[in-house]
Amino acid sequence: MKLTDKVAIITGAASGMGKAMATLFALEGARLVIADIDDKGSEQTVNEINSTNGKAIFVHTDVSKSSDVKNLIDATIDEFSKIDILVNNAGIFMKMTPIEEIDETVWDRIYSVNVKGIFHGTKYVVPVMKKSGGGIIINTASMTGQRPGSMQSAYASSKGAAITLTKALASELAPFKIRVNCICPALTETPMLFNSELWKHVSEAPHPLGRLSKPEDIAHAALYLASDDASMVTGICLEITGGQGV
Ligand SMILES: NC(=O)c1ccc[n+]([C@@H]2O[C@H](COP(=O)([O-])OP(=O)(O)OC[C@H]3O[C@@H](n4cnc5c(N)ncnc54)[C@H](O)[C@@H]3O)[C@@H](O)[C@H]2O)c1
Repeated sequence: MKLTDKVAIITGAASGMGKAMATLFALEGARLVIADIDDKGSEQTVNEINSTNGKAIFVHTDVSKSSDVKNLIDATIDEFSKIDILVNNAGIFMKMTPIEEIDETVWDRIYSVNVKGIFHGTKYVVPVMKKSGGGIIINTASMTGQRPGSMQSAYASSKGAAITLTKALASELAPFKIRVNCICPALTETPMLFNSELWKHVSEAPHPLGRLSKPEDIAHAALYLASDDASMVTGICLEITGGQGV
């Protein structure tokens, strides 16, 4: 097992790739804290992990709210006394919209979850990790942050910010043995994609490896970055695209 006795917080783990990461990390020996705004989905993730001999708890957390994230870190320390891994995975997508029609509240909400959520998680976990001599932070960005499509300017630029933030934090935190990396999935079969307009056009997208990514494919990439296999890896953007956009 690759994560024996590790304590991992995963945001956005009620669904999709966050849930797949939580399930895989638990199988690899980690104790999990599920942080999400979806109470029902989170309880389901927790129950599934605990019923297969894993250990998980849920802390209701809106990553855009500083006080919620501070409470998440405090609650994790109360329960497990340490934090080894933080995955800032929670994110929201947007309806395809020309720039001149994007409502300011939509723009602000996307940035407050996709960018500020990473800031909050990192700000509050870093003192804990510095004190314990190191840690691992993984941010879920997107291939869109590097090669944006049209009419997704708010989402794509928020993911570009997540990539730059990852690299900035990797250099700032390396002296403290805190590794910071991000994963950049392309289209992946999760509720975010099923519920978007992109789902209708998904068959037109190129599938060089013959299929779309599944949440489990992304979870395995996150496991690599969370494990000692990646002990000299920091500041990277690991693309999981099935060859899309190469
Ligand atoms: N599905 C794709 O094609 C795709 C591609 C590239 C990147 N991503 C990114 O992957 C990450 C996971 O998305 P997914 O595809 O698994 O989608 P998903 O919708 O299945 O899961 C997202 C989770 O985030 C939670 N969430 C949303 N806002 C939150 C908030 N403010 N605080 C806490 N939790 C919140 C949701 O409740 C949900 O459980 C996101 O950051 C997304 O932008 C997705």
